[in-house]
Amino acid sequence: MEIVKSLNELRNARQNLPAPLGLVPTMGFLHPGHLSLVRRARAECAAVAVSIFVNPTQFGPQEDLAAYPRDLEKDLALLQVAGVDLVWLPTNEVMYPAGYQTWVDVESVTQTLEGARRPGHFRGVATVVAKLFNGVQPHKAYFGQKDAQQAVVIRQMARDLNFPLEIVICPLIRETDGLAMSSRNTYLNPEQRQAATVLSRALRAAKAAYEAGDRVAENLRQVMIAEIEGESLAHLQYVSVAHPDTLEELNMLEDDALFSMAVYVGQTRLIDNFLLQAGRWQVGERINERA
Ligand code: PAJ
Repeated sequence: MEIVKSLNELRNARQNLPAPLGLVPTMGFLHPGHLSLVRRARAECAAVAVSIFVNPTQFGPQEDLAAYPRDLEKDLALLQVAGVDLVWLPTNEVMYPAGYQTWVDVESVTQTLEGARRPGHFRGVATVVAKLFNGVQPHKAYFGQKDAQQAVVIRQMARDLNFPLEIVICPLIRETDGLAMSSRNTYLNPEQRQAATVLSRALRAAKAAYEAGDRVAENLRQVMIAEIEGESLAHLQYVSVAHPDTLEELNMLEDDALFSMAVYVGQTRLIDNFLLQAGRWQVGERINERA
């Protein structure tokens, strides 16, 4: 496993790798959700590259950039075991040298949901991912359904800017009690960790209402709201039942919908989603269900 920092080192290492090359972009503090992306890339590609970069431009001024968890030594050990060929650890100076002034702004799909509550977030994400694509030049890039809107934004950007690669979206990996795995779960104390299961419980309740025949989006939102309001440690930021491609809120459901939410548990902001696609539910996978 080769570990590089500068663009020159990256280019040299990139030249020696067989095609197709798969890239898994991350911010580190790796967990089984990240590693499921690496495993998928390993299965589909001749070479696998992983980037680790806590991207400052996607954090708002009041957000957790300084506190964001980091454990590079453990991450590198996990990637070595996972059979990764190349790890890129760009520095802030490599990504945003003095005088930096070019940004990627994806328009309508960044206006709702996370984008509406985290101004500038997707500008930072799209910009850094475009730079990661240009640096690594992968044939395929792997992202998680955990960040459903991010997946939509990156697909849109890749299409709009003619990036010559395939975007692969992988299932959301959950803890055994249903909590979506996230580097930010480390912020939760034991009581909050228990309360945090309310997100997946609310999504399951909405799925049950849908399966019982309710097709009125507002009713399904209310089911999720009631579940979250029943958990005293949780504070709802939003629930949404939206079209999975346009991310516009739905009135009546047909066979496609993205059920999503953001909830504060203490100071920690958590997100989760279930995707209904062509009438089939994609609710993610619990780690104890995996081979
Ligand atoms: P990060 O939060 O580290 O996530 C890296 C990738 O892992 C993302 O594609 C994310 O959706 C995926 N992921 C995280 N938790 C997951 C889970 N429980 N199940 C499945 N996939 C999961 O997302 C980012 O970093 C950044 O925004 C990045 C794309 C690297 C740009 O800075």
